[in-house]
Amino acid sequence: MTTIAIDGPAAAGKGTLSRQIADAYGFHHLDTGLTYRAVAKALLDAALPLDDETIATKVAGEIDLSGLDRSVLAAHAIGEAASKIAVMPDVRRALVEAQRAFSRKTPGTVLDGRDIGTVVCPDAEVKLYVTASPEVRAGRRHQEIIANGGKADFATVLADIARRDARDMGRADSPLRPAEDAHLIDTSTMGIEAAFQAARAIIDAALK
Ligand code: C5P
Repeated sequence: MTTIAIDGPAAAGKGTLSRQIADAYGFHHLDTGLTYRAVAKALLDAALPLDDETIATKVAGEIDLSGLDRSVLAAHAIGEAASKIAVMPDVRRALVEAQRAFSRKTPGTVLDGRDIGTVVCPDAEVKLYVTASPEVRAGRRHQEIIANGGKADFATVLADIARRDARDMGRADSPLRPAEDAHLIDTSTMGIEAAFQAARAIIDAALK
């Protein structure tokens, strides 16, 4: 059983990379951001408060990992709400337990998020930290919004990215940071194919 842990900030390209890696190695994939998003959406849909840890933890304990779908959880408001409930230790404990159970699937798993290499799977055989400059990440997010027919201006998207980074890196419980033994992949000047080849080389060397 092999676990590959992939962490990094929003819009660094880790989602696409994680899916490609899982496909290439025949491993199960869990995008752990979706677990936080699913809790946030359930609270928003039921008009429940986003600042009540007891309620959010109860919802977190009921999340079914098999039914998570990014297309219904992609909304910007859901991401913002997710990063708010993600600061709550009891919510994290409930979701981390489910994520760890997932990580034990055979023949192997790829989990991506913010705290996989540091907290969820500290014994993962391979840890990657995928990042890019805030400007590059905002540029990609901006393009994506335009390509999907939406409207956005670059400065607002950049400010959103900076705010999300500050919340994810600054929280007391499980802040976003590279594990000491993580391999860094900076995708600022790299296309997705180059990032995938870099990841593959690291993983092949680690699993040999
Ligand atoms: O990656 P994504 O944007 O879907 O994640 C939404 C939010 O969920 C993040 O901004 C972060 O606050 C939280 N999250 C987390 N730990 C993870 C994955 C996501 O705190 N492992």
